[in-house]
Amino acid sequence: MTHKISFRDVVKTFPMKNGTFDALGGVSLDIGEREFVTVVGPSGCGKSTLLSMAAGLVEPTSGDVVVDGRPVTGPGPDRGVIFQQYALFPWLTVRRNVEFGLQLTSMPAKERKARADHAIELVGLTDFADALPKTLSGGMKQRCAIARAYAVDPEVLLMDEPFGALDALTRVQLQDQLLDTWSKERRTVMFITHDVEEAVYLANRVVVMAARPGRVHSVVDVDLPYPRTEEMRLSPEFAELRNRVWYSVYHQDPAAAPA
Ligand SMILES: Nc1ncnc2c1ncn2[C@@H]1O[C@H](COP(=O)(O)OP(=O)(O)O)[C@@H](O)[C@H]1O
Ligand SMILES: [Mg+2]
Repeated sequence: MTHKISFRDVVKTFPMKNGTFDALGGVSLDIGEREFVTVVGPSGCGKSTLLSMAAGLVEPTSGDVVVDGRPVTGPGPDRGVIFQQYALFPWLTVRRNVEFGLQLTSMPAKERKARADHAIELVGLTDFADALPKTLSGGMKQRCAIARAYAVDPEVLLMDEPFGALDALTRVQLQDQLLDTWSKERRTVMFITHDVEEAVYLANRVVVMAARPGRVHSVVDVDLPYPRTEEMRLSPEFAELRNRVWYSVYHQDPAAAPA
């Protein structure tokens, strides 16, 4: 398998008043082309720091972060980033917000609009393309933020708890929509969540991290076929995987994990 994203012995140390703090203590992880990898772990274990490095927003203290065989040196249009609180421009319509990232390219206005409209359609916001953000629900705002990332057509999506602030129903809808787009347009996805069920439902592989220092604790393969369905969520296989991941996150002692 070709590696799309590789973290090689990545260390991140933050300076503190009295010394330094080891946020990441040597993380090695490969994410394959077109894989959907979710990352879970206790708060503060360095999930966001790791993702921000792939995004080119944070530099490692040592080690390498490689995307497409090249060391990451900064943000780029090949990587779309979606955070939990994604700021939309309040004075721009949904379409204008989605087009925003494309304005930095030399793309003709007509193509820009077509691309934005396609992305808006993918997230189910077509009827609201001309609406302002203040008239949208939280879930719709997040769909708009996702469409903005899709419009640039990045090969890699880096998502940091993107559905964390949403109600359960909207969350499930956006999960299915994300999987649907992922299977059609086949991007590589690195998706952070604190929701173990969400981690299993979406992923090929779930990476469980541990804290102090942040590191990879274990990796769980999710051998369930796509498309994932609501029935699968209720299946014994799903429950088994969810329990295994849950144990790894909350009882980070290998001896305590169920066989
Ligand atoms: N810029 C920073 N300066 C100092 N400490 C930081 C900085 N960014 C993150 N940290 C610390 O590094 C650890 C990992 O943070 P983070 O990656 O946000 O964890 P997570 O996303 O898993 O909750 C936390 O203890 C956090 O306080
Ligand atoms: Mg975080």
